[in-house]
Amino acid sequence: MSENVTVVDHPLVQHKLALMRRKQTRTAEFRLLLREISLLLGYEVTRDLPLTTVEIETPMTEMTAPQIEGKKMVLVSILRAGNGLLEGMLDLIPSARVGHIGLYRDPETLVAVEYYFKVPRDLSDRLVIVVDPMLATGNSAVAAVDRIKEEGATNVKFVCLLAAPEGLEAFGEAHPDVRIYTAAIDDHLDQHGYIVPGLGDAGDRLYGTK
Ligand code: URA
Repeated sequence: MSENVTVVDHPLVQHKLALMRRKQTRTAEFRLLLREISLLLGYEVTRDLPLTTVEIETPMTEMTAPQIEGKKMVLVSILRAGNGLLEGMLDLIPSARVGHIGLYRDPETLVAVEYYFKVPRDLSDRLVIVVDPMLATGNSAVAAVDRIKEEGATNVKFVCLLAAPEGLEAFGEAHPDVRIYTAAIDDHLDQHGYIVPGLGDAGDRLYGTK
């Protein structure tokens, strides 16, 4: 496994992921499970945030208390399935700024095509967490991080639910400085670029489309 990958193997994550993979799992449950897992992934991706201290007063006395240092974080969702991860992450980090990148995979070439881009202006000096449930070929993730770096981001992390070895390799080559957080690394991609065993099309399962 590549050095820049953290597999979040917490039993709750693994259990919920298995429920999500099952083809019988319906849209509402799938969406709820993704929201729950994203809280747990968010906990892991923010584990090494730097802390500073501030002077506060409790009802009992004054004290020096820890507080997260630096500017507000930025969460960037790769549309549309990224929004499923975004919701839970926002529950955990409600003050985060949010960006959206619209990318679709050309079904023939599997190349990522951008159709929407809106991110907060000042990305330098901020931790930028890019979210997309499926790291398959890696094309969308690479393109999204390319664009975010063009906007000035220097401290970027990537959070997904499932990763394929092919996607990890492509992403690691393009962005070796960006740590990837995933709940599992699956076996391979099929000829259409779907992760196997995977969970199918994350966007369709999340929103009940086909
Ligand atoms: N996108 C998905 O939604 N599922 C996959 O398996 C691969 C890419």
